Amino acid sequence: MTTNEKQTKSKDRVREHGEVFTAEREVNAMLDLVKCETERIDSRFLEPACGNGNFLIKILERKLDVVDKAYKRSQWDWEIHAMVAVSSLYGVELLPDNVAECVSRLFDYFKQRYKARYKAKTSHIYLENVLYLLKKNIVCGDALTLLQADGKPIIFSEWGFSGSKVIRRDFTMSNLLKSSEKQAKPTLFDLQPEEKLPVPVRQYPAVNYLEIKNYA
Ligand SMILES: C[S@@+](CC[C@H](N)C(=O)[O-])C[C@H]1O[C@@H](n2cnc3c(N)ncnc32)[C@H](O)[C@@H]1O
Repeated sequence: MTTNEKQTKSKDRVREHGEVFTAEREVNAMLDLVKCETERIDSRFLEPACGNGNFLIKILERKLDVVDKAYKRSQWDWEIHAMVAVSSLYGVELLPDNVAECVSRLFDYFKQRYKARYKAKTSHIYLENVLYLLKKNIVCGDALTLLQADGKPIIFSEWGFSGSKVIRRDFTMSNLLKSSEKQAKPTLFDLQPEEKLPVPVRQYPAVNYLEIKNYA
């Protein structure tokens, strides 16, 4: 179940933060405008005011439908590609409770799909790594100042998958946006050729997909 019917939490939050969540019908209609991208497992989406995840969860649902169809036979293939789908979803949200709710909604939904499919064969370690990815990609911060609450810059990690291996590179949101202005297109979120990407602030060694959570 990916629907979240309630569109507001309180009048104060609407007034102070413009917090009105988008209804499922509108979410789907808007996603249909970029239908092909929502059905491409590795296409990256960034929602700069993601609330509790109404858009991100629907994109996850669509991507997992594709993974289900394309990787019926091998659990390993399903796990890798489902993880690629998760790793492609990014959000920024100002309010910490919305961030926590967004992460847990996406994770619970993912877990439910994974467990329904593989039942006793599901891996606890795999799920821990999926949760780690979600916690890294859904950032609590201000999408206008591009800073987190502690004043540090918002950082996004790029997750590059090659077989079982994953390479992480970190970029500041500010550099990604500067770079995207120059190119009139988003960068990390638009699969630009390597030479046009901004310089990462940190690059990590490759690890197995079940060891992502061991990144510092
Ligand atoms: C209109 S709601 C939309 C939420 C979600 N995108 C949806 O459609 O359901 C706007 C969200 O942006 C958040 N927000 C407000 N100012 C923000 C800012 N400067 N940076 C990041 N998020 C912000 C609010 O807390 C709220 O959750």
